[in-house]
Amino acid sequence: MKKSSNLKSSNGGIRPPLKWAGGKRWLLPYLKPLWEAHKEKRFVEPFCGGLAVSLGLLPEKAWVNDINPHVINFYFQLKKGLKTKLKFKNDADSYYENRDRFNDLIRDGEINTPESAELFYYLNRTGFNGLCRFNNSGFYNIPFGRNKTINYLQDFSEYKTYFGKWKFTHKDFRKLKLKDDDFVYADPPYDVPFTQYSVGGFSWDDQVEVAKWLSKHKGPVILSNEATPRILKLYKSLGYKIRIIDAPRVISCTGNRKKVKEVLATRNL
Ligand SMILES: C[S@@+](CC[C@H](N)C(=O)[O-])C[C@H]1O[C@@H](n2cnc3c(N)ncnc32)[C@H](O)[C@@H]1O
Repeated sequence: MKKSSNLKSSNGGIRPPLKWAGGKRWLLPYLKPLWEAHKEKRFVEPFCGGLAVSLGLLPEKAWVNDINPHVINFYFQLKKGLKTKLKFKNDADSYYENRDRFNDLIRDGEINTPESAELFYYLNRTGFNGLCRFNNSGFYNIPFGRNKTINYLQDFSEYKTYFGKWKFTHKDFRKLKLKDDDFVYADPPYDVPFTQYSVGGFSWDDQVEVAKWLSKHKGPVILSNEATPRILKLYKSLGYKIRIIDAPRVISCTGNRKKVKEVLATRNL
């Protein structure tokens, strides 16, 4: 795997291309030592979002999944060596024009295209707080972000060198079939009342299903979440080892910044 990179970050991995609410780059110092002893394994992220963790750890083999088809199409196009000729402009008129075009592609069923990936990147970097939210009809509805300066990437081809043996899927986590020795890092949406990354949201029943599913996995598991009382009770009842960490102020799914306690729940580690 190529190691010299313009995208290198101080944590030894490479910088994620997107901004993502709930991104876990800050957790890397805790995750890295747990992963190091297993790095010949396949690394599986059922809720990969902004990919901060996979890109921070840079496993040779990975399976990254998210229910959001747009983010997965973006990574898939990076794997094919995306370079964009679009002129990215940080102004409101251009933003809303491109948002309309992106929603036209959704309406026409053309979301698995390089153009859709370029627009998704532009909207993510230029929209409010890097949020990714869709209305009930499935159209992107984040407003313009008013960021002072944005360094847009035009040539993403460097990511391709890391994605060689990585598989990308956009499925509901219930559809994923793990191999016994997969190393799983799962970061579902926080246990909060209103979570809406994608049409459908994430309910308490979903939290319970994730925790139960991974409690049966034979290989190493790390599950992270907001350390709410009911999450701690659930994870403990399923036999996870618990560690609680002070999280920095993070952007929640509503775009507010709040300080939370994070739980790292582990098994077979
Ligand atoms: C907290 S974010 C993950 C952030 C990621 N760890 C990072 O560092 O950027 C949770 C992700 O779960 C995804 N998600 C929500 N419901 C899902 C489901 N049922 N199956 C798979 N992914 C889902 C969301 O689209 C979102 O990207």
